[in-house]
Amino acid sequence: MTTIASLSFADDQLTIIWANGSESRLAALWLRDNCQLPCCFNDQNGQRLINITDIPQSTIIASVTRSAAKVTIRFAPDNHISEFDANWLFDNCYCQNKAFDDRGEKSKTLWMGPSAFTKLPNADYSDFCCRSATQRHALQAVAEYGFVILNNVPVKPGSVLDVISHFGFVRETNYGKLFDVQTEINPNNLAFTNLGLGGHLDNPYRNPVPGLQLLHCLENSAQGGETIIQDGFMAASILRDESAQNFNLLSKTAINFRFQNKSTDLHTLATMIELNVLNQIVTVRFNNRSIAPLTLPETSMLAYYTAYRHLAKIFERTDLQACFKLNPGQLLLFDNTRILHARKAFSSAGRRHLQGAYSDLDGLYSTLNILKSSANKS
Ligand code: OGA
Ligand code: ZN
Repeated sequence: MTTIASLSFADDQLTIIWANGSESRLAALWLRDNCQLPCCFNDQNGQRLINITDIPQSTIIASVTRSAAKVTIRFAPDNHISEFDANWLFDNCYCQNKAFDDRGEKSKTLWMGPSAFTKLPNADYSDFCCRSATQRHALQAVAEYGFVILNNVPVKPGSVLDVISHFGFVRETNYGKLFDVQTEINPNNLAFTNLGLGGHLDNPYRNPVPGLQLLHCLENSAQGGETIIQDGFMAASILRDESAQNFNLLSKTAINFRFQNKSTDLHTLATMIELNVLNQIVTVRFNNRSIAPLTLPETSMLAYYTAYRHLAKIFERTDLQACFKLNPGQLLLFDNTRILHARKAFSSAGRRHLQGAYSDLDGLYSTLNILKSSANKS
């Protein structure tokens, strides 16, 4: 926090020199739009009450006065008076703060493989439920590395939904509120067999894609069935380093993803690598089972396959993969826009039973933000 050293204005702009030497130059229209008084802003819910069309385009600053912690501005031509806390102006100044996207690659710690960790991020579930510091660390691991393992989650069907209730909301799909990942007769998805599954992200055929997936192990006495995870943002960034052309193809060419059975028919048109408006990697969609037959122009089909193969080959590099066996009571919570998961095939002797569920990243980030701001206050 800093205080105002000096202040000046010229028609359409307020200039503040802060005690720390930094400067804010704030447009009259921006100030008027962000009036913090009850006529324009509801303090209870933090929402704006005015519309941009309520403010004249020709808004200028007519006069400015200041006390130790407040700046009062009279605007022309509407003669509106606004008051701002100096702290608010500093915290919200657009010269001091850049727009950021907490989902983009720049807000994450990309990891190359298990050697990035002394121990994979994990937390004890009872601490996660009752200690806000544990919950904050665990959710922060999902924000930063894309995953966390929760230990000692009660080994009973449905626990996966209780876990979600601690930070967000269940995303129900055609697979139900939760789904049982175990060998089935006539499975409607290869996940429900004992076959190995290559690295993938779930449900790229949905829009929006479920941002979070949970896999809770109830039983794992079969031979095999290890879980493999890897950082899809890291893999995509390796592709960008190795071939800008292939990266551009996968981030600019939209393809169809599809899931279809008797009762469900889902399609999405999207890129395998999605960039945000800041040109950062923000979502990876990769699932060999659900890419619809490609319908690209003849001239780009082969080049697209080359790029797709290149990314798939990077995903197959074992040094990028963390491999572990989930034991009963362990739950893997991961960002399904970033972390690929795979499993090794397992024997038909013994039993393997996971329960999975989806949730959205919004809920998790919101809980994490609240936990962080209360930790900062205490
Ligand atoms: C799935 C899946 C992994 C596993 O159900 O989406 O990938 O370990 N399962 O069985
Ligand atoms: Zn899956």
